[in-house]
Amino acid sequence: MKVLVVGNGGREHALAWKLLQSPQVQEVACVPGNGGTATLPRCRNLALSVNDFEGISRFALVNNFSLVVIGPEAPLADGITDYLQEQGIKVFGPTKAGAQIEASKAWAKALMQEAGIPTAASAVFTEAAGAIAYVQAQGAPIVVKADGLAAGKGVTVAQTVAEAIAAIEAVFGGQFGAAGSRVVIEEFMQGQEVSVLAVTDGMTIKPLVPAQDHKQIGEGDTGANTGGMGAYAPTPIVNEALMARIQQEVLEPAIATLKARGIDYRGVLYAGLMITPNGDPKVVEFNCRFGDPETQVVLPLLETPLEQVMLACAQRTLVDLPLEWKPEAAACVVLAAEGYPGSHTKGQTITGIDAAEAKGAVVFHAGTRLKGGTLMTDGGRVLGVTGTGETFEVAIANAYAAVDCIQFEGAYCRRDIGHRVLRQNNV
Ligand code: AMP
Ligand code: GLY
Repeated sequence: MKVLVVGNGGREHALAWKLLQSPQVQEVACVPGNGGTATLPRCRNLALSVNDFEGISRFALVNNFSLVVIGPEAPLADGITDYLQEQGIKVFGPTKAGAQIEASKAWAKALMQEAGIPTAASAVFTEAAGAIAYVQAQGAPIVVKADGLAAGKGVTVAQTVAEAIAAIEAVFGGQFGAAGSRVVIEEFMQGQEVSVLAVTDGMTIKPLVPAQDHKQIGEGDTGANTGGMGAYAPTPIVNEALMARIQQEVLEPAIATLKARGIDYRGVLYAGLMITPNGDPKVVEFNCRFGDPETQVVLPLLETPLEQVMLACAQRTLVDLPLEWKPEAAACVVLAAEGYPGSHTKGQTITGIDAAEAKGAVVFHAGTRLKGGTLMTDGGRVLGVTGTGETFEVAIANAYAAVDCIQFEGAYCRRDIGHRVLRQNNV
């Protein structure tokens, strides 16, 4: 079969790479892809934009691509799945109605309340005065979120009331466009964050191995928030008993409530969870897609062919498909451009990827492009280097051994990816 992957990040490179490991997948095409998907055997990039639903549909129909996989949230929220399904194309990814679970935090909160899913107490406001009065009454720390999609920049964890008020004013000041027409104010939750990406066909929902990512730019989890500077899986924080609770208290009620609302949700439901100090899982947010860079550590551990999982979701046969996993650990270290997550350089020549892969790691491209046969940086997060091994120590050491083979001017990575898990194992 032939599969089309929509998106251009490290997550999409990992999806294409994993799909191509299956003998059933002859070819993958990426829209628009990156320098990694351009050089992956049996893979090619298409000069189409992720918003060109008609072009994507025409290409899939004319060339007999039997499945389209949507990576990022924006086209899902814009209804790409609805459009392609109307043309008779099988899609992995929820409809526009389902994508609201990520595209509107207020909508997601209402769904959680209706489903009885544990999450932070919250209130929604459509104007600043009410929101400010609320934070003054609640006190700090408190969390202020723009309602809509804000490319990961719409959340402020405010340590003081003044900071919370400034965040409210920024949201209503138009900084986030339509995403800032409402604000969600949330109780601050303490604990460790974990990412549980689950696959669903709208009836059955099955978790992938639990992962953790490092959102902050600086070592020791300090400094500005980023798209994710690294990740690892399976995190031992989520043991079998906790995963059973997450299944029962979060994943199943979410799907049942979506279904009760008439939403046929198929694809990934990603639960961003806080594991509170007393061990309870609480939802921080839901996403309607795979995580990035979590995908780069989860998929290398998956034994079951990925296209089978995706087809089972699209065709509603997931109940019959057991998910098998390699008994290993994986860690991904992100190499970022100088200045990221602020304004950063582009167009630096990248060398050493072959040497890095010769060390046994997989190098996923996030922000790269090929220019006349030369690989150049083309984004803030440039590469994600995934190492695997029998233990986290080995996986992390393998990832860094490969990272050390790669050069581009201004390359930055954190040197402490996985520190929580190493500490936990008393290494
Ligand atoms: P979100 O975009 O909702 O995932 O929020 C971005 C980040 O802000 C999360 O990954 C958390 O680190 C943090 N955050 C969001 N909501 C809360 C909360 N209620 N309590 C503590 N931290 C939060
Ligand atoms: N790694 C966080 C995300 O994908 O949203």
